[in-house]
Amino acid sequence: MQIINEPEQMQAIAEKLRLNRQLLAVVMTMGALHEGHLSLVKLARERAGTVILTIFVNPTQFGANEDLHRYPRPFEQDVALAKSAGVDYLFAPEAGSIYPEHYQTTLQCGAIAEQFEGQQRPGHFNGVATIVTKLFNITKPHTAIFGEKDAQQLAIIRRLVADLNLDVSVVAAPIVRETNGLAVSSRNIYLSSHERIAADVLYRGLCHAEQRLAEGELNLQKIVAEVAEMINSVPECRTDYVNFVDEESFALAERADAGKEYRLLLAVFCGSVRLLDNRKMSA
Ligand code: PAF
Repeated sequence: MQIINEPEQMQAIAEKLRLNRQLLAVVMTMGALHEGHLSLVKLARERAGTVILTIFVNPTQFGANEDLHRYPRPFEQDVALAKSAGVDYLFAPEAGSIYPEHYQTTLQCGAIAEQFEGQQRPGHFNGVATIVTKLFNITKPHTAIFGEKDAQQLAIIRRLVADLNLDVSVVAAPIVRETNGLAVSSRNIYLSSHERIAADVLYRGLCHAEQRLAEGELNLQKIVAEVAEMINSVPECRTDYVNFVDEESFALAERADAGKEYRLLLAVFCGSVRLLDNRKMSA
């Protein structure tokens, strides 16, 4: 595995690989790699001959009061994990080479980025869209793998690729879950052993909703209320939001049409840890 720090060097390598008819897949991360990231690399390996992993803690997607400086950066450990997962190129630039002096261009996402996580973190998705576009231009992939765990981010990246006619195929990787159904996340380490057990209610809530839809309940607000009640009945847990969105447009959905696909989005505090989860389901 080769480690590259300079955007120009990464671009030159990617260009050469493309000229040699290599299929390139990229997995973009902010490091602190875990099982979820490694599942994205595995999918990338299945899709392409060359896998590029990027590690960059992107400052423009953090708000002023967020944890940019405390964000974990276990670089040596990440290098070892990336190597054993079969990554070919690890692109890990310094912030100064991505956002040099006089840098001033930022992408502006639309309405899709202003709800749910975007409401909590104004400007966050503009930062994500900007860095993702820059990393597409630097790594020149045919395929990019993003986790379904961050469903809103994935929807925004799909929109970005379509709206800007970017020549890359976006592949969604399924959520990796612990044995009790808890979605794997770098935030899970902040859960006490007690909270970790209690947090299985997110998965139970998703399964309940799926079952209610399968039974023919088309009133999505009713299902949302049931799921919220289920979660809030667990003393350690408190819902931040529970919402159905249309799988196609990511617009808030209150009533289902039979045969259509929806996604239930959960943001739940378990103790002081805010957990996200979601699941696609059909009416
Ligand atoms: O999902 C993430 O880790 C980040 O938002 C991404 C896509 C790497 C952009 O910084």
